[in-house]
Amino acid sequence: MRGERLVIAVPKGSLYRETAQRLREAGIEIPSDTGRRLTVLTTDGKAELLLLRPTDVPAYVEFGAADCGIVGKDVLWETDRSVSELADLGFGRCRLVVAARRSDRYHEGARYPTFLRVATKFTRSAAAYFSDRDLPCEIIALHGSVELSPLVGLADVIVDLVATGNTLREHDMVVVDEIARSSARFVVNPVRFRAKYEALVELVGRLEEGRHA
Ligand code: PRP
Repeated sequence: MRGERLVIAVPKGSLYRETAQRLREAGIEIPSDTGRRLTVLTTDGKAELLLLRPTDVPAYVEFGAADCGIVGKDVLWETDRSVSELADLGFGRCRLVVAARRSDRYHEGARYPTFLRVATKFTRSAAAYFSDRDLPCEIIALHGSVELSPLVGLADVIVDLVATGNTLREHDMVVVDEIARSSARFVVNPVRFRAKYEALVELVGRLEEGRHA
């Protein structure tokens, strides 16, 4: 029966709560707390949810292990995986920015060092941004707590997501420039989209309705 039901890749973490709410509004039962579960089958058997790290969603969708998924645009910027983006679901909004210590005054036009050290989880977006501006830099790939790096002398600036701005404020850091804006996207595997066209079009329609509710 798996071939008939929709397999949906769902991001755990910060997008989970609103993803679950939007799926529930679209008629798909999903637990509010997943515990350590990796998959959930809805009781009507019409959908199977794969509970994934956000950065893993594109791989599951590209290779057809999931028919579709929900993922932040910020993840799509950084991946080579090929998925089709069908809709901007409008939640999980955040900005990818260059940020630095307030005291360095880069936000007020102070010059960057000749060879800038940039700490980030978003290595591809960061490299493209500084390359476009002909600013030589070393990209230092980190996996979290990126705001710490300028405070302890690891990097001059960071490229990171900002939502409320609280994390930057707490570390006396400021936005120097905005690179791009992100939000949650509905993505599909293009082959599965043709095979399960009606079910996927109905689902994306309902998910988008939630955006305007
Ligand atoms: C993200 C991002 C910032 C923070 C920004 O981190 O990398 O650290 O959220 O949110 P704010 O502007 O609302 O404070 P996340 O929670 O994903 O943790 P990590 O980067 O340390 O893994």
